[in-house]
Amino acid sequence: MTRPRIFETIAGLRADVEAARRSGRRIAMVPTMGALHEGHLSLVRAAQAKADLVIVSIFVNPTQFAPNEDFDAYPRDNDSDIAKLSELGVDAVFLPTVGEMYPKGFATGVSVGGPSQGLESVTRPHFFNGVALVVTKLLLAALPDLAIFGEKDYQQLCVIRQFVRDLNIPIEIEGAPTVREDDGLAMSSRNRYLGPDDRKRAALLPAVLRETLQALDAGTPVADALDRGRSRLTDGGFEVDYLELRTADTLAPFDDATRELRLLVAAKLGATRLIDNIPWSRAS
Ligand code: PAJ
Repeated sequence: MTRPRIFETIAGLRADVEAARRSGRRIAMVPTMGALHEGHLSLVRAAQAKADLVIVSIFVNPTQFAPNEDFDAYPRDNDSDIAKLSELGVDAVFLPTVGEMYPKGFATGVSVGGPSQGLESVTRPHFFNGVALVVTKLLLAALPDLAIFGEKDYQQLCVIRQFVRDLNIPIEIEGAPTVREDDGLAMSSRNRYLGPDDRKRAALLPAVLRETLQALDAGTPVADALDRGRSRLTDGGFEVDYLELRTADTLAPFDDATRELRLLVAAKLGATRLIDNIPWSRAS
C-alpha cells in the first residue's frame, strides 16, 4: 500500500502529469467530491484497467451548489478517502482549495445547453453550469487522456460529453455503470443523510424504475406507465420531482421510432433528494 502523491496546486499536479506524459504513460482522471464509496471506487478501478497513471480529484465544488443547498453540510473526509485510494494503489490525488480553483477576481463561466435542459435543471438551474465550469478546469489542470464519470449521474454524463465535444477538449469521456446497495439503492454520498426508516423506504426508488420498465416492455403506454410509477413513489412517501423517459444519448424528447431510451427519476424522502436512472431498449 503506497500513499498517493497529493497535490494541492494546479502547478504541482501539472508538473507531475507532464513527467508521466513525457515517459509515454496513459493517464486517466476520476473527478469526485469525496466521501468516497464503492461507486467512486469502481470508477477508479475502471480507470486503472485503462491507464498507467490514475489521478483522483477531491473537490467539493461551490459553484454547483445553490445558496439553499448542502455545500457546508456536504460530507468531507479526506483522511479516510486517501486511505481508500492508497489501498487501491492510486498514483495521485488532486485536493485543491476553493481559493486555488476560484482565486480572487475569478470571473469566467461555462454555460451549457442541450442535455442540460429539463430534469435536474428544473429544480437546480445553476447546477450544470457549475459542473461544466469545474470539470473544464479539472480536465485542463490535469490534461489526462481519459476521464471517467458514473452513469448514476446520467444527465451530468451527457452534459459533460456535450461540452467536451463542443469545446474540443482533447480528452476521452467514459461512462461507468451504477454501483448499488444490496436492496438496489444506488450508492450516493447523500444516502448517509437518510434516517433508518427512510433508508428502508429508499429501495422503492430503483424498484419503481424496474417496475416501470416491465410495464413498458409489456406494452403499457408510456404516459400510463410513468403516471403509475409516480403514484407508487408518492404512496411510498416520496415527493417526486420527475419520472421521465428520454432519448438515451441526447436526453431529447423521443418518438415511437426512438429505440434507445433512458428512464430517469429524482425524488425526495424528507429533506434528502435521491436520483437514479436505468436504460430501456424498445423492442423493434
Ligand atoms: P460525486 O457525486 O462525488 O461523484 C463523482 C463521480 O462518481 C461521478 O462521476 C458520479 O457519477 C460517480 N458516482 C457516484 N455514485 C456512483 C455510483 N453509485 N455508481 C457509479 N458511479 C457513481 O458527480 C460529482 O461528484 C461532481 O458533480 C463532479 C463531477 C466531481 C464535479 O464536481
